[in-house]
Amino acid sequence: MSRFVLITPSADFDSRLRQAVEGGLQGGVQTFFTNVLPAGPYDLFAQLNQERPEVLILGPDVPVDDALRLATVLDVQVPDLTVLLVSEPDPELLLQAMRAGIRDILSPSADPSHMRVLLERACQSFATRHRPEQPKQADSKGRVIGVFSPKGGVGKTTIATNLAVGLGKAAPMSVVVVDLDLQFGDVASGLYLNPEHTVTDAVSPAASEDTLVLKAFLTVHPSSIYAVCAPDNPVDADHIAPEQVTRLLEQLAEEFQYVVVDTAPGLPEIGLAAMEACTDVVWVSAMDIPSVRGLRSGLDVLRQLDILPEGRHVVLNMADAKCGLSVQDVESTIGAPVDVSVPRSRAVAFSTNRGIPVLQEAKKDPAVKGLNQLVERFSPNGQAKGQRRSHRRVVV
Ligand SMILES: Nc1ncnc2c1ncn2[C@@H]1O[C@H](COP(=O)(O)OP(=O)(O)O)[C@@H](O)[C@H]1O
Ligand SMILES: [Mg+2]
Repeated sequence: MSRFVLITPSADFDSRLRQAVEGGLQGGVQTFFTNVLPAGPYDLFAQLNQERPEVLILGPDVPVDDALRLATVLDVQVPDLTVLLVSEPDPELLLQAMRAGIRDILSPSADPSHMRVLLERACQSFATRHRPEQPKQADSKGRVIGVFSPKGGVGKTTIATNLAVGLGKAAPMSVVVVDLDLQFGDVASGLYLNPEHTVTDAVSPAASEDTLVLKAFLTVHPSSIYAVCAPDNPVDADHIAPEQVTRLLEQLAEEFQYVVVDTAPGLPEIGLAAMEACTDVVWVSAMDIPSVRGLRSGLDVLRQLDILPEGRHVVLNMADAKCGLSVQDVESTIGAPVDVSVPRSRAVAFSTNRGIPVLQEAKKDPAVKGLNQLVERFSPNGQAKGQRRSHRRVVV
């Protein structure tokens, strides 16, 4: 196995690096003689036949901007890989390299003994960053929170994206939002993402067999959360089976503290598979009769099928005191208390069009308050804590 991977068109540098390694370091070197860098970890690992190197050296004559971009992606997605950049160090580049998570900068003219010192340091850094996979215990699994509603247009995507962003504030890089509205999902648009990979890649055999490959398919959002977006082409959705979704959610729950799942309206097979993997369900209803009745029938069916997850959270979205329905009407129709009300708000409608969830910006808005209450239910110190809250009102 190659412990060191070098990318450079320079044969001279390659030969000095090999001398450095052979003069006292363990492991081999694999060199790609090119100045074209892989787009991300997946392309890199594909070229290495899925082997995992410890140190990646971006060698002389590789475009520096591409090197910084690749290092940034690797820093987030494969944090235990140590990256070295070969370039003449100038103060500005040092700063950029540091921000991109590059461990060290090597001069293109460095001699083998100097290189060996830096490579040794890089290997030590790998050893401290690399945590061998611990056998996961059942209780170390993250919470899988599905956002469901029998009707479309009630705010599922709005709530799922805001919940993920809100949880990401308390647990950065520990939240992933998954778009299981496979045909018409709009998590990517709600988060203003242009994903390189989608659910199709995330459920592929390579990803389902190796969680590191799966992680390479996640898209990073600037609010420090990850996303798995729906396929670009609705036809691709037909090729995804419920069992693949079950496996995906199981893998993500082992890696993340929170997995937030957005779903398609109704209860399609994919949705039912997702629900069975959920620890918590957020039921969303808008404040209109069809939506409230739809939720009631949905809950009835699921009770009969006996697949209602333990954690239940009812959100009344687009709440409006003047719409002719009261919260009590809603509660008595669905046979369950409303846990959180999110008022109708222009800021929310606006945020969807801009692709910036309202919780991403510290805006003052009544809807923000409701959404934060929902987030709070899942925080480690929040009220819900995996159990149902004792409700303030008994509903008939
Ligand atoms: N509380 C709210 N106030 C105003 N508009 C809202 C609110 N919640 C959702 N919307 C808007 O309603 C539309 C549908 O919301 P969306 O989250 O896509 O619903 P779903 O995923 O259930 O189909 C979006 O344009 C969104 O901006
Ligand atoms: Mg939606």
